[in-house]
Amino acid sequence: MSLNIVVTGGAGFIGCNFTRFLLQGTDYRVLVLDKLTYAGSRRSLVDLLNHPRFEFRELDLADGVGIRRALAEFQPDAVVHLAAESHVDRSIDAPAVFMDTNILGTFTLLQEIRRYLASDVAKHVQNFRLIHCSTDEVFGSLEDDAPAFVETSRYAPRSPYSASKAAADHLVHAWQATYGVPAIITHSSNNYGPYQYPEKLIPVVITRALADQPIPIFGTGRQIRDWIHVSDHCRGLLAVLERGRLGEHYNIGANCERENLSLVREICALLDTHCPRSDGCSYALQISHVSDRPGHDHRYALNIDKMTNEIDWRPQVSFSEGLQQTVRWYVSHLDWCRHMLDRAASSAASTAPLASPSASAKPLPTTVTSSES
Ligand SMILES: NC(=O)c1ccc[n+]([C@@H]2O[C@H](COP(=O)([O-])OP(=O)(O)OC[C@H]3O[C@@H](n4cnc5c(N)ncnc54)[C@H](O)[C@@H]3O)[C@@H](O)[C@H]2O)c1
Repeated sequence: MSLNIVVTGGAGFIGCNFTRFLLQGTDYRVLVLDKLTYAGSRRSLVDLLNHPRFEFRELDLADGVGIRRALAEFQPDAVVHLAAESHVDRSIDAPAVFMDTNILGTFTLLQEIRRYLASDVAKHVQNFRLIHCSTDEVFGSLEDDAPAFVETSRYAPRSPYSASKAAADHLVHAWQATYGVPAIITHSSNNYGPYQYPEKLIPVVITRALADQPIPIFGTGRQIRDWIHVSDHCRGLLAVLERGRLGEHYNIGANCERENLSLVREICALLDTHCPRSDGCSYALQISHVSDRPGHDHRYALNIDKMTNEIDWRPQVSFSEGLQQTVRWYVSHLDWCRHMLDRAASSAASTAPLASPSASAKPLPTTVTSSES
């Protein structure tokens, strides 16, 4: 059965990959609602803009009336809620917008979903569900030898970002229990892949390396993150949407823990092969340790048994293959990176300061000599 799916934040990293995945892999109709902050751009959806099953509305989650109108007109069977402020460094420098979007924005969306489900236009909608995309960061930080987070791990957020995501999760729970809003919460680990704004670790390393700039690494670089390719996350979200049980939480990860420093070295080695520096030295020479992020979580790791046992989903992309593809994608899409950084720089005066050291607004090379054919 064809479904109508609203994707909030569909012009961002995961959202544009998820929207593309839905349009290419299903016969569902997709309406993207997105404010187009510095992290979201129509350019990330440019190949989809004329797709017959795709619609886009520029909309702030704070705009309840706009959400109301969009839901009434599109009549969704599901909402996949991805819109958020998502960068921890920015949340430390300027937390207010994280509270506005991640908490109050989710509140507004929940209220409008309630109103929509109670309205005549939704009478024909069977099995509506809200998929609320949360993060492993709501569970806090793990010691090296601690078992991975399970869905019932205690919430212990430690950054303004993760606290705002945790608050949003609690709202979703409460709206389900109190008002019967049918919802499922997913917790994903760190995503990587195409179209990630170049302030997050992997695209920062690639763009900084190619721009001949220092590659910043927080503290010792011994922090551990659990990585999942964004295409596996998209498959996981669809599996939860189609087969998940209402009221449940599902961890979506890929059992792939890596120390930041070794990941950065891996990326440098890939760049050394694909587009060597003109002086023949390794990009690893550009690695520069900077002061650690305050309250930096040491380790995240997700136990994904529930997804594999109950939903019959498992990750398909190996880290080495996914990382190679990702490096190649950024090397051949530096124009997209430049577009995203230029947009952010031009609106920087009215928004949060770009958080040092992970954001780069310095010029990227216009061409990269690649040894790839
Ligand atoms: N990227 C990851 O590794 C990761 C891991 C776990 C969970 N998540 C969660 O997944 C979701 C998507 O993450 P992402 O990495 O794609 O983020 P992103 O920052 O790349 O994209 C967020 C999108 O939301 C939009 N947005 C922001 N504020 C909005 C508002 N007020 N109204 C409407 N749209 C707004 C932005 O324009 C952007 O398109 C987030 O909820 C994030 O917390 C991300």
